[in-house]
Formats: sequence, structure tokens, C-alpha cells
Amino acid sequence: MRLPHRDPIRLGPTPYEVFQEKEGIPSVKGFFIEDLMDVEVKPWERMGALGSYLNLGEQQETDAYICELPPGSQTKAQRHLFETLVYMHKGRGATTVWFEESAKQTFEWSAGAIFAIPLNVSYQHFNASNEPVRFLAGTNAPHVINLFHNDDFIFRNPFQFRDRFRPEREFFQENKRLTVRSWESNLVPDVNAFALDDYPMKGKGVRIMRFGLAGTTYGCHIQEFPAGSRSLFHRHGPGAIVTVTQGEGFAMVWREGEKRTRFEIKPGSIYSPGDLMYHGHFNTGPTTLRHFAMRGRSPKYSQDRYRTKLHEMIPLDEEPPEIHPAYLEELKRKGIKGEVQLVEE
Ligand SMILES: [Fe+2]
Repeated sequence: MRLPHRDPIRLGPTPYEVFQEKEGIPSVKGFFIEDLMDVEVKPWERMGALGSYLNLGEQQETDAYICELPPGSQTKAQRHLFETLVYMHKGRGATTVWFEESAKQTFEWSAGAIFAIPLNVSYQHFNASNEPVRFLAGTNAPHVINLFHNDDFIFRNPFQFRDRFRPEREFFQENKRLTVRSWESNLVPDVNAFALDDYPMKGKGVRIMRFGLAGTTYGCHIQEFPAGSRSLFHRHGPGAIVTVTQGEGFAMVWREGEKRTRFEIKPGSIYSPGDLMYHGHFNTGPTTLRHFAMRGRSPKYSQDRYRTKLHEMIPLDEEPPEIHPAYLEELKRKGIKGEVQLVEE
């Protein structure tokens, strides 16, 4: 027997919602943003820059924000007990991280860079150019703030995680393969240049690399789909934040028994499938389609081994039968050879 549906429990705002209200910047909700350059950003006192939250996918495990630094400006120094992954979308600059003022480390980046802020280090971003810098960050602030619900503990905590950041070492030069499809690093200079490993279980031609960045448990990966190819559909829990970094195509999502939605995607598009929402990625352009996804746990701290049956992938011949022929037809119209056939020769 199935248990009856239970309405959500309403006890007023969560600690994360109370925190966000004080932040004084907009919050974009929903599942899709066509172009992160179009997100309206407002003065953000805590960060000392312009910003907007992205609260996508109807969940409070992860959030994201868009931050813009006007030319020649820098963010305010700060630290906190939630993890932050950064994808630099536009501009050029540097970030400084430290435990003690006397032992600061600075690394430079330009558009396409991915890195993490080591947990609870003080940090500051600098725009070194004459153009605005705009970046996307993913954090686990909702989870951490709802768990501890105490700003002093989260934002003014003196604990130094020396296992994650060693000021005496050139921390941001660490870079090594963990195993197939897994890499440990602190800074990926260019999301579109990093060589990926084959990942055929996700679809023909699909390639991926999962990253552990700066010792964070918050996971991320780069995935690509060659011209004429697509992923299979799968679903899992909510909280993934996917941003397209190269190419064009569409993403398709739906929940069991509900209507399918298609999002047109290009560099700067962001989407976040909701809880148990099937999702697939389709390349309809002449070049490789690549995305950067912030999701789940990093390779070393992954709990994927405990995946339930709810984390499932749909084989090509079991998905709704009209999807793949329509995709092949669309490729044909654009003069692109479809690389994925229902029946392999
Ligand atoms: Fe997924």
C-alpha cells in the first residue's frame, strides 16, 4: 500500500530564508535561466559587489548566486562554513585566500576558470580588468544554515581546516588524477580545454570528468556531448546546478506523469532539475556541447555507493518513443549527422 500524500509542513520561514531576506539581493526561482548574463544583479552589502541568488529546483540543499564585480573593484574579505564552487563566466582577475593575514595566497583566473574556496578560509575576489567580471557560484549554504542556524558560528568561526588549506604549500598548484573519470585539483583554468574521459553508460560519445576541488565535499563535473549526440535520461535528488559552457542544444525534463519541458541551451544557460525529475541533454549544434555541473559529493567523499533504486537511468529503447526520432529529425534539418541510433549497426 502506498502512503497517502502528505502536505508540506508550514512553520514559517526556514533559517536559510530568514538569512536570505537579510542579504537584500534578488532571488531567481524556477528550473531554468536562459542566459546568466541577463540575470539582474543588485548591490550586495555582504559581498561588496553586485549579486543575485539563484534558488533553483525547489530545494534547500544547495543554492547558487551570480556575482558581478565592476571594473577595478574587489569583493569584501569574508569567510564562512559553507562550501563554494566558482565558475568564472566573464572577465579576468584574481582571488586571494588566507587563514592569517601574513600568509595570503593569490591565484589568477580568466573566463572559463573553475575553482573552490577552501572551507572557512578568508577570501577576496579582484577584478583586474576594465570590463565587468561575472561569475556563477554554487554553495551548500541552505543545508549548512538550516543545520546550524547561527550566523556567528557560520560567518565568524575561527576554526582553520588545515587538512583543506595549507598556507605553507602552493595549494593552488595541486593537480592530479584520482582514478578514471575523477580528478583532484584546486583550479581548472579553462572548463572547455580540460580533457575528459569516456562515459559510455551515459550515452554514446559522452565524456566526463568529476572533480574534487580544494578538498570540498560538494561535487562537480564537466561533461560533454559530441556533435550529433545526446545523453540518456536519468533522475535523482534535487540540487544540481548545470551551466552550459560550450555549444548549443536543448535539455528536456519531466516528472513521472507530468508534461515534458524543453529548455533551449547555449553558453551561459543554467538549469536545475527538481527532485526525481528526469533530465537529458541534447546537442543540436555543429560543435561539442559542454556543461559544468555542481552536484552531489566530490569523488573522495561520494556516497554514490549508497544510491537507491530511485537514482535511475532510462535505456534508449525504454524512453518515450517520440523523443529520439524527433531529435534525429531536428539534426537532419540542421544538416548534422545523428551519432546515436536506436538500433546500433
Ligand atoms: Fe543528473
